[in-house]
Amino acid sequence: MRTDYCGAINTRHLGRTVTLCGWVHRRRDHGGVIFIDLRDREGIVQIVCDPENIAAFQVAEKIRSEFVLEITGTVRHRPEGTVNRGILSGEIEVLINTIEILNPSLTPPFQMDDDNLSEAIRLEYRYLDLRRPVMQRNIRLRHQVTMAARTFLDQHGFIDVETPMLTKSTPEGARDYLVPSRVNANHFFALPQSPQLFKQLLMVSGFDRYYQITRCFRDEDLRADRQPEFTQIDIETSFLSENDIMSMMEDMIRRLFAAVIDVSLPDPFPRLSYAEAMFHYGSDKPDLRVPLILTELTDLMQDVPFQVFRDAAQKAGGRVAALRIPGGGELSRKEIDEYTRFVGIYGAKGLAYIKINDLAKGLEGLQSPILKFLPEQVIQSVLERTRVQNGDLVFFGADKAKVVNDALGALRVKVGHERGLAEKSWKPLWVVDFPMFEWDEEEKRWQALHHPFTSPSQGHEDFLSNDPGKALSRAYDMVLNGMEIGGGSIRIHRQDVQSKVFQALNISDDEARLKFGFLLDALQYGAPPHGGIAFGLDRIVAMMTGTDSIRDVIAFPKTQRAQCLLTQAPGMVEEKQLRELHIRLRKTETTSS
Ligand code: AMO
Ligand code: AMP
Repeated sequence: MRTDYCGAINTRHLGRTVTLCGWVHRRRDHGGVIFIDLRDREGIVQIVCDPENIAAFQVAEKIRSEFVLEITGTVRHRPEGTVNRGILSGEIEVLINTIEILNPSLTPPFQMDDDNLSEAIRLEYRYLDLRRPVMQRNIRLRHQVTMAARTFLDQHGFIDVETPMLTKSTPEGARDYLVPSRVNANHFFALPQSPQLFKQLLMVSGFDRYYQITRCFRDEDLRADRQPEFTQIDIETSFLSENDIMSMMEDMIRRLFAAVIDVSLPDPFPRLSYAEAMFHYGSDKPDLRVPLILTELTDLMQDVPFQVFRDAAQKAGGRVAALRIPGGGELSRKEIDEYTRFVGIYGAKGLAYIKINDLAKGLEGLQSPILKFLPEQVIQSVLERTRVQNGDLVFFGADKAKVVNDALGALRVKVGHERGLAEKSWKPLWVVDFPMFEWDEEEKRWQALHHPFTSPSQGHEDFLSNDPGKALSRAYDMVLNGMEIGGGSIRIHRQDVQSKVFQALNISDDEARLKFGFLLDALQYGAPPHGGIAFGLDRIVAMMTGTDSIRDVIAFPKTQRAQCLLTQAPGMVEEKQLRELHIRLRKTETTSS
């Protein structure tokens, strides 16, 4: 049938007769001559139908947008002045010999070259949305990434093993998607939040290097970078140190970026400890394109009259910090108010500032609502530490360290990008030396920061029982331009250490047995030292294509409300099905759809 793709026709085909199949991108009637832009996955080619070809012309008159055609014709130069340098086939056109409508189309709800579509309509007609060249490019780029990853992993001796989708709850810490069992009344499978436990078991089995490009399911609050089902490039290795794993994995990421979008990432990636990242950037996934850093002021504010600062400085776990904005003196009252509202999202109760008008004039040269509450030598120290210059502005955060870090950390990125201070480049890094645990204020207990199978750092085992907050872990995250694209760790391979971690997490022996007994048993049958990582494929591809949302790189994504607008899932089911599954719905929930 077809001899070539539409988008692949170029001057090399001049004079040849070709047969093309595709969709009508646009049809123009130019007083007698009909032009058709015919589109397929490779691009667009201009088709010309002359009125002298009566049979073809009669068909061409009938066609509309998105009809599917097969045409045969001769490739020729476009006339002088009509060449389109923007497309591959822009120098040529195809003069129709014969044309056949393979299938007509209803009038589509939108034009395939409309770039201002609402996401709701795009998702409802996703199969049409995916025809749009930009979406074709995104999905194919995703394919290139997975192919490059597979090639790399295969070359490095990794074996692709599938792990179950119907399984038990796994420890990633989000809510599970549950699947009721018909055969086992009142019992439920959980969809995996990750293959974590199975990949560890595969190391016990001696596969040595495992990978899988696989779906994970997490019922959590959705954002632009989170989907309820998403894809990981999941990896586990035996007998390698974290340095071995990190260097091999950054090699892989460098390879992917070079192969797919011709970007060369630094070698090696810089590394920051979690503590340094929080101290300088207020974030464990710092965007290093933004050159701004936080300045520590907690020690300076111990005795100042300004109560907000003093309280935060004196409180255990409090922090006072500053963020210098070069040239920020020009920010208007309204802009500062907007930033104040913005940090409010992170729990900040205000956003004090000092504008530096003229350093030579001393206090007179400064402008701020808080100067009167701060001793002159403290102000002097702030100016020195932040290294301000005339025309700058300094923002302040004072609260529990978490609030200050979240607020100023996010503000740093927002202001940096909005004011054009960010570098246009790719800034990967590793964040290492994470704490084992974080304190859960609501539940009043320690939670695993990564997951409970993460090994404590060498020499930190005693902290597990003495001082859990001090224990660091052998976990590592890969961060790119402020996005966490991967995370992993060296695992615990000894049963006694695993028990200590469960104790610190207040997980009883019985509970641990019930949830992870199979893993604990496996650890006692010669588990090798092992560790691994998982990358968020959707996030990596989204960054490569430059889109803000991972929905743009997933063929059939869910909305922010975890629904599929195309299929209308999740949906109601019939009573009969429920009965088979031993489920009776609660009254209130049967009425909502
Ligand atoms: P983690 O939970 O850090 O680690 O997940 C690994 C990576 O997966 C991506 N990711 C997501 N992407 C889209 N939507 C989501 N809802 C979502 N959640 C996570 C992120 C993240 O870095 N089993 C461990 C890995 C290991 O220890 O080897 C795990 O799942 O890019
Ligand atoms: P107030 O005395 O409450 O009017 O606050 C004086 C200035 O301090 C205002 O600019 C507030 O935005 C700011 N401010 C109040 N609370 C905080 C806080 N926790 N951190 C930083 N700035 C604050």
